Amino acid sequence: MGKLQGKTIVLGVCGGIAAYKAAALTSKLTQAGADVRVIMTESAVQFVAPLTFQTLSRNPVFVDTFDERDAAVVSHIDLADSADLIVVAPATANMIAKLALGLADDMLSTTLLATEAPVWVAPAMNVHMYAHPAVQLNMQTLAGRGVHFIEPGEGQLACGYVGKGRLAEPEEIAAVIERFFAGAGCLAGRHVLVTAGGTVERIDPVRYISNDSSGKMGYAIAEEAARMGATVTLVSAPTALPCPPGVRLVPVQSALDMREAVLERLPHSDLVVKAAAVADYRPATAAERKLKKQSETMTLELVKNPDILQEIGECKTGQFVIGFAAETNDVDQHAMDKLQRKNCDLLVANDVSQAGAGFGVDTNIVRIFDRSGMVEALPIQSKKEVARRLLELAASRMAAVGAAAEPEGEL
Ligand code: PMT
Repeated sequence: MGKLQGKTIVLGVCGGIAAYKAAALTSKLTQAGADVRVIMTESAVQFVAPLTFQTLSRNPVFVDTFDERDAAVVSHIDLADSADLIVVAPATANMIAKLALGLADDMLSTTLLATEAPVWVAPAMNVHMYAHPAVQLNMQTLAGRGVHFIEPGEGQLACGYVGKGRLAEPEEIAAVIERFFAGAGCLAGRHVLVTAGGTVERIDPVRYISNDSSGKMGYAIAEEAARMGATVTLVSAPTALPCPPGVRLVPVQSALDMREAVLERLPHSDLVVKAAAVADYRPATAAERKLKKQSETMTLELVKNPDILQEIGECKTGQFVIGFAAETNDVDQHAMDKLQRKNCDLLVANDVSQAGAGFGVDTNIVRIFDRSGMVEALPIQSKKEVARRLLELAASRMAAVGAAAEPEGEL
C-alpha cells in the first residue's frame, strides 16, 4: 500500500517554467496512493496543458473558478474541504503575495483561502525575486500563520542566472509530504504534558511580576502533540490564546501553582515539554490589599522559586523530558549546562535576542541539544513547525528506548 493511500492532496500549479516539474510530482503522489486534484492558474496553463495533469492524476483539472461542472457542489469549497493537504508547486512570488494578503481572485488563491488543511508552498522564481524583501516578508508572514515552505534549491535557473530559486525536486517534495503524514500518528497512546506562558508572581491584588512569554511556543507544541495522536494536558500561565482543539487546559498563575499542577500529573505522563517561562523569583509576600504609595523609593524583597524542570529531572521515572532555554548570549554553552543540570533528554535553545525568535513572535529559531551536543539547528520557521520537528524527534527517541511510563489513570 502506498504511503499516501487514502489521502486527498490538492496540488496548486502556478505559472513558471518549473510547472513542468509539477507533472512529475503529480505522478509521484498518485503512485504513492494519493488522490491528487490539480488546480492550475491561468499562467500555468501557458506552460503545461491541463490534459497532462488530468492524465497523470486521473482527475479533472481546475483552472477557472466559474467553470462549475458539478451542480451539487461549489468547486473551490469542495476542493478546500476535501484536501488532507494542499501543496503549491511551483509557487510564484505573485501567488505567495496573494496568499499573504488574503487575496482570492482565481481558483487557486480562493481555494487556499477557504481551506483548513495544512498548506505547503514550494517557491520557484528568479534568484533576485526570491531574495526580494517583499517576497521574504510575505513568506515570513505566511510561516507565522503555519504555512510550511519547501525551500528552493540552488543552481542554474531557467532565466539564465545561477542561484537560489529552483523548485525543489519532485522526489524531495513528495518525501516531505510523506514524512508529514507519517508523523501524524507518531504520539498515539502517549500522554503529553506541556507548560506554556509566563508565570504571574503577585505583588498585591493589582500588580505582579511576569515576563514577555505569550504562550505561543507551548500552545503550538500542545496543538501539534494532539494532532500526532497524544492525550495532551497543557498547564498554562495566563495568555491571550484559545485552548488548542482536543487539549486539556489547566490554567495556573504562579510558579508555585505551575509546580503543583505539573508534579501532580508527572506520574501519568510519558513526555513533558517545559516551554513555559517560569519566574525565577517571586515577591517574598503578596499583599492582600492594594499597596499604597508612600515613600520616594520602595524595595521589593524577592525569594527564589522552585526550579520545576530541575525537580522533574530529579524525580522522573522514565518520562522523556524536554526543557527550553531562553538565552541572549553563549547559547550553546548555557543550553548544555541546563540540559545536564536539569537532567533533560532534549533541550531547545532559543536565542531570544534574534529577530523572529523567542518571546511573542509567531516564529522561532532553535537549536536542539541532547547529552552528546547539538542534534539539530532549525532555521526560522513557524512555532508550529518547530513544535512538529521537536515532537517527531522525541517520538522517535521514545519509540527507540521504550520510554513510555505506564499510564496510571485519567489525567
Ligand atoms: O511563549 P512565547 O512568547 O511563544 O515564547 C517562547 C519562549 C521564549 C518562552 C520559549 O521558547 C522558551 O524559551 N521557554 C523557556 C523560557 C525560560 O524560562 O527559559 P529559562 O532558561 O529561564 O529556563 C530553562 C528551563 O527551566 C525552561 O524549560 C523553564 O520552563 C524551566 N524552569 C525555569 C525556572 C524555574 N523556576 N522552573 C522551571 O521549570
